[in-house]
Amino acid sequence: MVTTLLDRIGLLVTNDPTLGDGSALGQLADAALVVDARGTVSWAGPSAQAPAADVRLDAGGRCVVPGFVDSHAHLVFAGDRAAEFTARMSGQPYAAGGIRTTVAATRDAPDEVLAANLARLVAELRRQGTTTVEIKSGYGLTVHDESRALALARAHTDETTFLGAHVVPPEYADDPSAYVDLVTGPMLDACGPYARWIDVFCEDGAFDSDAARAVLTAGLARGLGARVHANQLGPGPGVQLACELGAASADHCTHLDDVDVAALADSATVATLLPGVEFSTRSPYPDARRLLAAGVTVALATDCNPGSCYTSSMPFCIALAVREMRMTPAEALWAATAGGAAALRRTDVGRLAPGSRADLVLLDAPSYVHLAYRPGVPLVTDVWAGRPPATR
Ligand code: NIG
Ligand code: FE
Repeated sequence: MVTTLLDRIGLLVTNDPTLGDGSALGQLADAALVVDARGTVSWAGPSAQAPAADVRLDAGGRCVVPGFVDSHAHLVFAGDRAAEFTARMSGQPYAAGGIRTTVAATRDAPDEVLAANLARLVAELRRQGTTTVEIKSGYGLTVHDESRALALARAHTDETTFLGAHVVPPEYADDPSAYVDLVTGPMLDACGPYARWIDVFCEDGAFDSDAARAVLTAGLARGLGARVHANQLGPGPGVQLACELGAASADHCTHLDDVDVAALADSATVATLLPGVEFSTRSPYPDARRLLAAGVTVALATDCNPGSCYTSSMPFCIALAVREMRMTPAEALWAATAGGAAALRRTDVGRLAPGSRADLVLLDAPSYVHLAYRPGVPLVTDVWAGRPPATR
């Protein structure tokens, strides 16, 4: 049995308000952490009181935060859409239909190409401090291509999401309701075994309220949890549908009215904000302050995908949340860790307290504030997924 003491942590963020300074981040200066042989935190507290362990590692005064929980990513695809991005930067608007470009490239790609691109992206996320990632299908849109996407994703995470209802593929353009029947029937049959969640892009140009409800209720009836791409490009029914159906998360939340905000505040549905999308589509950001003021639980995620936002960097999204959405550095860090965990209904990640997984990030900085204060700087020096990299 090997236990590990991580000592001389300059600032430890636990996300446990009962530890440390009493804030939501549960911060402790001059702290230490003990990890048991299973990769679970067994103790967190002041360095001076740390119990003995088999192995002692020195954090050298660095800041330690929980590993980022990226609760929204589309990582199974082929090709890129750099030309679309260039056109957008010259004034073209983002449109949902661009998804079909990636669908064509993904269908044409052999399994090995998709697997290699996925592995590269997961490694990229990990290097930047993400220790839990949700991965969606949604660029296959056939029974075969959606189920192979989810089977590939399952090799990397348990947080897999069936997004057959991303857009209506071209072969169903004349009969979208037949596509909804396919998604809720044979496609769900094939994909359900590989998925924890079901998602739908509820938006003009994708799926309307009735279609989204049909998709989500079919998934719920199979035992999947619900999540919704909601109110991204304009006002719409997505957020209220998510709340009504008990979805774990309503994602994007860019165009909300008062009823949407009240519905989120009265529900257990997390509002997951994806500011990398507004950055990459040059669009107005969601009103994070309004959601926080209403008491809504807010998460931050990357939405890493080849169309609307091709970043895998949670530190970048934290910097955007602070600079562009006026979240405090503390709110942004919480949203990228504990908020993401809430959006995935997980209590074992997103915090560093006894009983949680020892998923953590060492920053080459005295404080997490530097994640926003030093944007674009690679501050993540070590990432533990349950244990130090060297002992895995
Ligand atoms: O979350 N909104 C729908 N899906 C993605 C975009 C996918 C794409 O453009 O390829 C999103 O932004
Ligand atoms: Fe998305």
